Amino acid sequence: MPTGAPPIPACSAVSPYLSLPVTPLDRLALDIEATVADCARMVASHVAAHLHDTDALLATLPPGALLGNPDTYARHLVHVDPLGRFSAMVLVWRPGQSSPIHGHRTWCAYRVLRGTLREQHYQWDPASQRAELTTTVVRETGSTVSAPHGLQHIHALGNASDDIALSLHLYGVHHDHIATGVNLVVQTADA
Ligand SMILES: [Fe+2]
Repeated sequence: MPTGAPPIPACSAVSPYLSLPVTPLDRLALDIEATVADCARMVASHVAAHLHDTDALLATLPPGALLGNPDTYARHLVHVDPLGRFSAMVLVWRPGQSSPIHGHRTWCAYRVLRGTLREQHYQWDPASQRAELTTTVVRETGSTVSAPHGLQHIHALGNASDDIALSLHLYGVHHDHIATGVNLVVQTADA
């Protein structure tokens, strides 16, 4: 991360282990939890460090791509790792469009390239197997956020503004698996 750069926020984080007795395995679990969260934050810090030239990135997209899709937010694959370790997509959000409420099957990081996104955070309840809304955060242009895989970080992203919003998303999956290998869709307490 560049010197003086703001810290990369993760989504809301509530450890499922904190209320359990602290055994050696509990402590191991906490260390693993912290490690995977750090990995996602490091990816986000690289995104923030390397992607200042939004116009150059967006110029790689085909004409009309930034207009979005009337039915749902549009996704455009912009980079694939030759070894299949990660993929990057630009998402185009028309006003009112949003993602499902989801945890993640892989680490992820995103950066708001243009406009404003709304991110709603949820907490997973293992007893009811449902998620409950906790906070809502506005992500302005330039905001860069990370989330590790699993149900510790559950969120929904959407465009609550009157203008199209653009964001770049990186996921730790082969591009062939983006459709099914990223979002871990969950039910909410009021569903
Ligand atoms: Fe997500």
